[in-house]
Amino acid sequence: MPLPTILRKRSKLHGYGVFAMEPINKNKRIIEYSGELITNKQSESREDRYLSKGCIWVFRVNRNWSRDAHVGGNDARFINHSCTGNCWIDVVDKTIWIRASKFIAKGEELAYDYNTEGDKIIPCLCRPDCKTKL
Ligand SMILES: C[S@@+](CC[C@H](N)C(=O)[O-])C[C@H]1O[C@@H](n2cnc3c(N)ncnc32)[C@H](O)[C@@H]1O
Ligand SMILES: [Zn+2]
Repeated sequence: MPLPTILRKRSKLHGYGVFAMEPINKNKRIIEYSGELITNKQSESREDRYLSKGCIWVFRVNRNWSRDAHVGGNDARFINHSCTGNCWIDVVDKTIWIRASKFIAKGEELAYDYNTEGDKIIPCLCRPDCKTKL
């Protein structure tokens, strides 16, 4: 099954975002979150370096492994966070799939809950009164 067509463009939420260019059914695989596979130990200094510039690029795969989308990433790295998003994360071995958590209409921005564990210094802009920090 081909993956749905998506497009990276400017987002009202933050910077660039990724948008559905066709309707996407619930649970459909949308895109793989690609990036260099590194150990969680290796990821610490990279995460600090990225966060000092206000960016989160490293995705925790499991207890041992992370993927760094700053190295070898695809458009998945531009999907923004939302506390009430429309995507969920399905980790199959060390592959991270972003899948639809509900029906997504054409034109809708894709978003998922980053579930960040780190310093939590970026105020979430998913809605005006959101108190979450990423
Ligand atoms: C993986 S990037 C997503 C793409 C980003 N919009 C860009 O243009 O680079 C993650 C960064 O986007 C920003 N971001 C994503 N979702 C956000 C949200 N709900 N509220 C505030 N900033 C957000 C944060 O700065 C975060 O470090
Ligand atoms: Zn939020």
